[in-house]
Amino acid sequence: MKILLPVDGSEHALRAARHVAAMGEYLAGPPTVLLLNVQPPVASGLVRRFLSQEALDGYYRDEARAALEPVETILAASGMRAESHVVVGDIAATIAEFAASHGCDQIVMGTRGLGGVKGALLGSVASEVLHLADRPVLLVK
Ligand SMILES: Nc1ncnc2c1ncn2[C@@H]1O[C@H](COP(=O)(O)OP(=O)(O)OP(=O)(O)O)[C@@H](O)[C@H]1O
Ligand SMILES: [Mg+2]
Repeated sequence: MKILLPVDGSEHALRAARHVAAMGEYLAGPPTVLLLNVQPPVASGLVRRFLSQEALDGYYRDEARAALEPVETILAASGMRAESHVVVGDIAATIAEFAASHGCDQIVMGTRGLGGVKGALLGSVASEVLHLADRPVLLVK
């Protein structure tokens, strides 16, 4: 089984990761877990004018590392093989396309993320992935 676990550095994404780690117990064999952090492109012309592409790439890489590392640790502790990926693009569209292009059997993600809006049941990325994905999505509360 191939699982796509999109992570944003939030406590919710860690909960989704812990759920995947626990899934090992009831799967026939160890799953392949693809971790994906999506960096929304820095759109500001002003920023692009004063920062080199190299500096921007370094920023994306550092942000992605910070989101991916704690999840890599959780999965490694449960003996699961995980591959980390970083893509710059629209968050939800990238997650849905990545799942399809990498032949993932399901997407496991948090209901909420780093966004601070209290009260809403679902974050915008979770809700858009539900809309766009052409395969099962498991939302971990
Ligand atoms: N940049 C990202 N890269 C990868 N996965 C992400 C990213 N942002 C969110 N996710 C995934 O989507 C889940 C839901 O997060 P979402 O962004 O929808 O909630 P939110 O941050 O509370 O709301 P909003 O972003 O609308 O303010 C996260 O737990 C994580 O699994
Ligand atoms: Mg968010």
